[in-house]
Amino acid sequence: MTDLASVDYFSDASIAQDPYEYLHYLRSQNPVFREPNHGVVAVTGYQEANEAFRNTDAFSACISIGGPFPPLPFVPEGDDITAQIEAHRHQLPLYEHMVTMDPPDHTKTRTLLSRLLTPKRLKENEDYMWRLADRQFDEIVELGGCEFLEDYGKPFATLVIADLLGVPESDRHEFRMRLAGHKDPGTRVGALDHEPVASNPLQWLEDTFSKYITDRRNSPREDILGVLAATNYPDGSVPEVIDIVRPATFLFAAGQETVTKLLSSAVRVLAEQPELQQRVREDRSLIGAFIEESLRFESPTKVDFRLARKTAVLGGVEIKAGTVLMLCIGAANRDPRKFENPDEFQLDRRNSREHIAFGRGIHTCAGAPLARTEGQVTLNRLLDRLTDISIDESAHGAAGHRDYSYEPTFLLRGLRDLNITYSQA
Ligand code: HEM
Repeated sequence: MTDLASVDYFSDASIAQDPYEYLHYLRSQNPVFREPNHGVVAVTGYQEANEAFRNTDAFSACISIGGPFPPLPFVPEGDDITAQIEAHRHQLPLYEHMVTMDPPDHTKTRTLLSRLLTPKRLKENEDYMWRLADRQFDEIVELGGCEFLEDYGKPFATLVIADLLGVPESDRHEFRMRLAGHKDPGTRVGALDHEPVASNPLQWLEDTFSKYITDRRNSPREDILGVLAATNYPDGSVPEVIDIVRPATFLFAAGQETVTKLLSSAVRVLAEQPELQQRVREDRSLIGAFIEESLRFESPTKVDFRLARKTAVLGGVEIKAGTVLMLCIGAANRDPRKFENPDEFQLDRRNSREHIAFGRGIHTCAGAPLARTEGQVTLNRLLDRLTDISIDESAHGAAGHRDYSYEPTFLLRGLRDLNITYSQA
């Protein structure tokens, strides 16, 4: 029996495998509660996490991904550390990406992205998703079973973003190979992997996109990359190439693992519950609700961080400027004050859609519509192409004694692998 009071959330391997009991424990102490090991204030209440996401005046996103790691490069002084944050921002991890920016820089960068995520572009991207899903199911449908993340989830999520950004068809295989570790489905076990994987995929992405954008600035074209290359800031000023490249490449970091985790947790539930699978198979209008409940139940982004830039009060608790807040999305989405019987997956839950799996406020996930459509397309095609989808007992054990392994990270929540069996529809 784990002594929850002494757990180190950030390094405890068993908590990474099953975080919910610990997160419930934290909330039972207080929905805004200082954990003992790193002095991080954990926000596990739904209402309180919402409030923290929205209060951009008091809470800065500058440490949104790393939280207490690495420690701040300065010692916070006084009740307003805005000037200290600005003086040291360039020393904080991922400072050049929008997810860590505060207004006005955040507003400016997000505008560049909104030029890309237009309704027309999203519709074209959805058309591509249906074709892609079919192509990927073609690869695995006759195998009778697959490892869903490698064989479907990762390549699917990667190629959807490549298409969104207008990566030329001829380059997409390389994207799949480098970013999703492409292997031929069914050949993984015991097969040697001779394919080159970039040592730093983000650097490779930056180089590749810098070339695309520079090419199009030199000789304008009408394609999506051409539109990106010609995008200006709202005041008419022209961004540097790198300032266009970064929001574009960041989409891979933001939308690849998270979507893979959403898809695999949704498929796990379908495979675990044959009656539910049958119900959704017969009534596809339930898929939307199924995806929302999956996002609530296993929120792919488990936690997110903020740094108190001003001394403020949250949920009745004083938060001193310089405090690291851990906004526990996965816990807020299981707050019993908001969601009844939160540890149950309930397709008919009336308020699933009020989950905060995509965050809230100015940083709300820019890719949420895309992620939802990826879920719709995948589950529809999965049910079209496969029947009797079940958990592979040789990999995960018999029902009631399942053995699932989750990514050992404090940030994200998702399976390392999901082995399923099925028949061809
Ligand atoms: C199920 C899948 C996804 C989940 C659970 C998710 C979750 C999140 C969350 C919680 C945030 C807020 C971070 C914060 O406030 O600090 C965020 C931001 C973001 N997400 Fe997603 N995301 C998903 C998929 C995607 C996809 C597919 C894309 C794009 C292709 C994407 C692009 C972004 C971007 C660009 C931001 C930063 C927005 C900003 O800082 O203004 N995400 N995401």
